[in-house]
Amino acid sequence: MGTSIDASTAGKSQTKEVRGVALVKSRHAGSGEKAPAQIMTLVFKGEGGKGLKEWPARLWEDPRGIGASLAVGSLVLAEGTVVRHNQEPQLRITRLTPLKASPEEIQSYIPQSTISSSLAMARIDAFMESLVEPHLKTFGIELMSDPEIRSLFERAPAAKRNHHAVVGGLLEHTLEIMEMGDRIAPILRLNRDLLLLGLLLHDLGKCWEISSQPGFAYTDDGRLLGHMFLGCDAVRRTAGRIPEFPGTLLKLLQHFILSHHGEMAYGSPVLPATPEAMAVHMLDNLSGQVYAMRAAKGSDGDEWGYERNRGAQIWHRGSDPAELAKLSGKKDPSTGQGA
Ligand SMILES: [Fe+2]
Ligand SMILES: [Fe+2]
Repeated sequence: MGTSIDASTAGKSQTKEVRGVALVKSRHAGSGEKAPAQIMTLVFKGEGGKGLKEWPARLWEDPRGIGASLAVGSLVLAEGTVVRHNQEPQLRITRLTPLKASPEEIQSYIPQSTISSSLAMARIDAFMESLVEPHLKTFGIELMSDPEIRSLFERAPAAKRNHHAVVGGLLEHTLEIMEMGDRIAPILRLNRDLLLLGLLLHDLGKCWEISSQPGFAYTDDGRLLGHMFLGCDAVRRTAGRIPEFPGTLLKLLQHFILSHHGEMAYGSPVLPATPEAMAVHMLDNLSGQVYAMRAAKGSDGDEWGYERNRGAQIWHRGSDPAELAKLSGKKDPSTGQGA
């Protein structure tokens, strides 16, 4: 297979035609006028092969059944035009050609975390070494020395979509909130040992819930049991290997997992019952929301993006230091003050 064709023209108002190599991240049949439409998410390489761009795509007419036969995780040459649908740019596909590709080529279309997994794992190990309460410290070190957990935790995405949906995303997300927890524990007078363990454990079950293969599909265990049960089970197994691990500490650790979605409507069977559990929920939410805001995209060059989950418009210019520096010298015509 040749090199990818740049799809960077997608979304520019002058040129709405797209032609490029893309990975089929997801595909399912929806209703169409004559035959079922294929609803897909395609991943293109950015300008000059740099970065990855994910596009919702629709194939309305598929008389030869090419779209219907595409496997998730395969590469295609996609041609189409950009339209707006529910405030988001979407690709209306006119032609799809399946391509043969090596596993390395396919891997290059799967988004990866930009952090170093070995440094991140070493940082989490150091946090565990810094715990004070002997049972909790032993627990943390025992958990992080489990070879299965280590290898899954390094690669797992934190979500199928929305936030940290990249290989290594769970590790990036978890370390991000542990760093925040380490700083806020003294400010809010929280138990640092419990808080750091709660943050480490809150999404641990995602190691078994979501596959790190192309498409980040839910596993059978993920669909049947969910990440909260899977995480609680791993905590119980780890605690079971530590002689005389106090039952109350085991329940406190499992409570972090069960309460971290914060509300029953969002899938938590119990509400946070300790200040540390509330902090885990809030830091988890903060990390996810900020990531989703940064990822919200508009058309190329558009300073406003649309964040689907909250239905909110995001002003990227508002947190761009170069743009803010340009504004600082100007007067705001509505107030006569500096802009
Ligand atoms: Fe979760
Ligand atoms: Fe999380």
